[in-house]
Amino acid sequence: MLTLTLMSASCAQDKCQAAKECASGDSNAVIETIMSRRSIRAYEDRAIPRDTMELITECGINAPNGMNAQEWEIRVVDNPEFINGVTDLFVKENPEAAKAPGFKNIFRNAPTVVFIGAPDSTYSGVNCGLLGENMILAAWSMGIGSCCLGGPVRFLNSEVAAGYLKQLKFSEGYTLLYAIGFGFPAETPDAKPRDKGKVIFLD
Ligand SMILES: Cc1cc2nc3c(=O)[nH]c(=O)nc-3n(C[C@H](O)[C@H](O)[C@H](O)COP(=O)(O)O)c2cc1C
Repeated sequence: MLTLTLMSASCAQDKCQAAKECASGDSNAVIETIMSRRSIRAYEDRAIPRDTMELITECGINAPNGMNAQEWEIRVVDNPEFINGVTDLFVKENPEAAKAPGFKNIFRNAPTVVFIGAPDSTYSGVNCGLLGENMILAAWSMGIGSCCLGGPVRFLNSEVAAGYLKQLKFSEGYTLLYAIGFGFPAETPDAKPRDKGKVIFLD
C-alpha cells in the first residue's frame, strides 16, 4: 500500500513537473494538439479511411460520460450520395450557399461526417460534447482536420430533410444533436482569439 502511495505521489510530481515544463514552453503532445487545432473548412477530395475513423470514434466513446451510461449514438457517413444529396436539397432552397468559395457540400466541405445523436437527458449535451472533442483531438493528432457543425444539423432536423435524417437510423428517443466534418486539411487557418478574461480564479 505504502509503495503504491509513494508511486502515485511520485507520478503526481512527474505530472506536475510536466505541466510546469509545458507552461514554460517545453513540448507536451496533448497540449500541442489542443493548442494547434483549428476548425477546418477546406479538405482534400478523399474520405478518411474507415479504420482511421474506427480509431477516432473509439477515442470518442472513451470520453468521460455520466454514470458510464454511454447515452450517445454515432453515425459515420462517407457516402457521397448522402452528403451530396442533402447538399443538393439545401442548395435548392438556398442557392446562395453554393456560391461560397471552394463550396463542395453543406458540411463545410468535409468528405466524412460524423453525426451524433443524444437522448433527452440532463447531461446529454455534456456527454456528447466530450465525445466530440475526444474525436476532434484524436483526429488532429493524426493530421486530420475537422469542423463541428450546427448549421447543417438544423437543416437535417427540418421537415424537408426528414428522409435523410431517417437514413441515419437513430434509435427511438434519440435526436440528432450535432455533427462533425472530418477530412485531410487543405488550408491552415490562423487561431481565432480567445478571451482569457472568461477565466477567474477565486481565492
Ligand atoms: C456547437 C458548435 C456548432 C458549430 N457550428 C458550425 C457551423 O455550422 N459551421 C461552421 O463553419 N462552424 C461551426 N462551428 C465551429 C466554430 O465556428 C469554431 O469552433 C469557432 O469559430 C472557433 O474556431 P476554432 O475551432 O478554429 O478554434 C461550430 C462549433 C460548435 C462548438
